[in-house]
Amino acid sequence: MKGMILAGGKGTRLHPLTKVVNKHLIPIGKYPMIYYPIFKLREADITEILITTNHQDLPLFRKLLGDGKNLGVRIHYKIQQQAVGIPDAILLSKSFVGNDKFTVILGDNIFQDSLIPYVQSYQNQTIGAKVLLKNVPDPTRYGIATFDKTHKNILFIEEKPTNPISNYCVTGIYMYDTKIFEFIKQITPSSRGELEITDVNNLYLQNSKLTFDVLSHWWVDAGTYEAIFEANQFTFNNDILSLTEKGCDL
Ligand code: G1P
Repeated sequence: MKGMILAGGKGTRLHPLTKVVNKHLIPIGKYPMIYYPIFKLREADITEILITTNHQDLPLFRKLLGDGKNLGVRIHYKIQQQAVGIPDAILLSKSFVGNDKFTVILGDNIFQDSLIPYVQSYQNQTIGAKVLLKNVPDPTRYGIATFDKTHKNILFIEEKPTNPISNYCVTGIYMYDTKIFEFIKQITPSSRGELEITDVNNLYLQNSKLTFDVLSHWWVDAGTYEAIFEANQFTFNNDILSLTEKGCDL
């Protein structure tokens, strides 16, 4: 299994914090934000990691992380030319992924749960994708899942619904097979002018298989000032990364 972290975007919602500093490099607790997804992948034994970012910020990531050796992983980089959506960035991973499966983490998703059980269950899943959900108080901000009566299957996912049918957000932690590259070719930009990962996940529901698990611990999408404040408080008081493991030279 390979790993991918999306660390591009303009971060306009966080200006002036992110006017000159990429959002994924700002401090969260004791570490730059990007450390969190890297170490969550590493903990699940995913050590081949592709980071996508924009042209001007790439040297900063290289300076901080290098080839990943000091962190016990191998980091590869790709440039996303324009911020036109999550699926567009995922397309850049095609040659890196090869015939493997891969876990994608949006670099601003910071969370407490270990990925180990979810990665293991996805390894045993013969076809399709897996998403991780979280019960949230503010569902209009996210992709929201609607379930069938048994609550065991997702019927469809709606991106930032005005009238959400559930409180189960599809977090920015996804597991895919190579079918995703075909599905991405089939989607078109949404009204916000971006390719939407929700459209890709809905294609999995219609044409393949989409399983889910629900995160039981703390999770945040650190895309607002409030969320960044919450992430700083939480990570400062709870050591959610085990960075002291052998082989780590921060
Ligand atoms: C993106 C996805 C959304 C998902 C969220 C999780 O939203 O489009 O479906 O729930 O990440 O962090 P965005 O951060 O682009 O608004």
